[in-house]
Amino acid sequence: MKEKIDQIRAEIEGFSGSSEEFKQKYSGKKGIVQIMFDDFRNMPREEKAAFGKVLNELKNLAMEKQQALQDAAPVKVKGNQPEDLSLPGNPHFKGSRHPVSLTLNRMLEIFGRLGFAIAEGPDIEDDWHNFGALNIAESHPARDMQDTFYISMDPAMVLRTHTSNVQSRVMETSKPPIRILAPGRCYRNEAVSSRSHVFFHQVEGLYVDENVSFPDLKQVLFYFAQQMFGEGTKIKLRPSYFPFTEISAEVDVSCNICHGKGCNVCKYSGWVEILGCGMVDPAVLENCGIDPKKYSGYAFGMGVERIAMMNYGIPDLRILSQNDVRFLEQFEMIQP
Ligand code: DAH
Repeated sequence: MKEKIDQIRAEIEGFSGSSEEFKQKYSGKKGIVQIMFDDFRNMPREEKAAFGKVLNELKNLAMEKQQALQDAAPVKVKGNQPEDLSLPGNPHFKGSRHPVSLTLNRMLEIFGRLGFAIAEGPDIEDDWHNFGALNIAESHPARDMQDTFYISMDPAMVLRTHTSNVQSRVMETSKPPIRILAPGRCYRNEAVSSRSHVFFHQVEGLYVDENVSFPDLKQVLFYFAQQMFGEGTKIKLRPSYFPFTEISAEVDVSCNICHGKGCNVCKYSGWVEILGCGMVDPAVLENCGIDPKKYSGYAFGMGVERIAMMNYGIPDLRILSQNDVRFLEQFEMIQP
């Protein structure tokens, strides 16, 4: 008996299978330890005294071993697959910022540094604020330049064709100095293509004060281009026409994709047009109740999609409004 107990003790100590196997062989109801106890019961009394203690120790050893095996076993999950608890958890996809929002936020941040406050106006606008106050008379051919969605004809209400409506609203209700930036959505009845859409975003800038000059405008736009597209970006002002500015210009920036070598985005010219601008026409100041003899101002309006496309190398404007998560997921993740 003594040798048998010693042998079993050694076996238990060296056992390396599963806790189920151990239970079956040693510690269960039909296991070796129980059989030993059964044998013990049938022993003559004098022998019992010699083995009782050691047998109890053997039983305790078996119970401890079984517990230890159970504790070390991997947790079972459905399908009997052991789960690796050291793996990191599954991240919850919280969404990402839209590239248009990212671009817009960056614009607001850059102009914010220059002291531009944010102003807003309605998407559904009356004829006066979208056109009339901005020097675009009813018969003005400029109305054809911007194919308009009319909500009603009498009174004429439109989906604003540009964010310039915020200019007229702000000038009507506040006194110079005025320095605002107006981001928002605009609408035009145009054929949808890779370069134009029926809705898009603009950012409008307006600065009205005493002695505001064209070089002030140029300086601000130059600063913006450096911040938005990188140091060394060049800007080029081309004479242009807008009914609400005199003088007017369109602004190109040097293409930051090909750096002048020629690519699809700049149509092999090395330049990308990003905005329209000019000195606020004195007639517009007057329309909005600001004395053009005392004050002057500059204004600019730029398309956000165009700049987002350039910054992220997006070839087709339509992708921006298709809500395809495979596209959207690629942009900056929102941190939980
Ligand atoms: N509103 C013009 C457009 O949608 C853009 C623009 C041009 C805005 C010149 C301005 C400006 O403020 O001065 O095409």
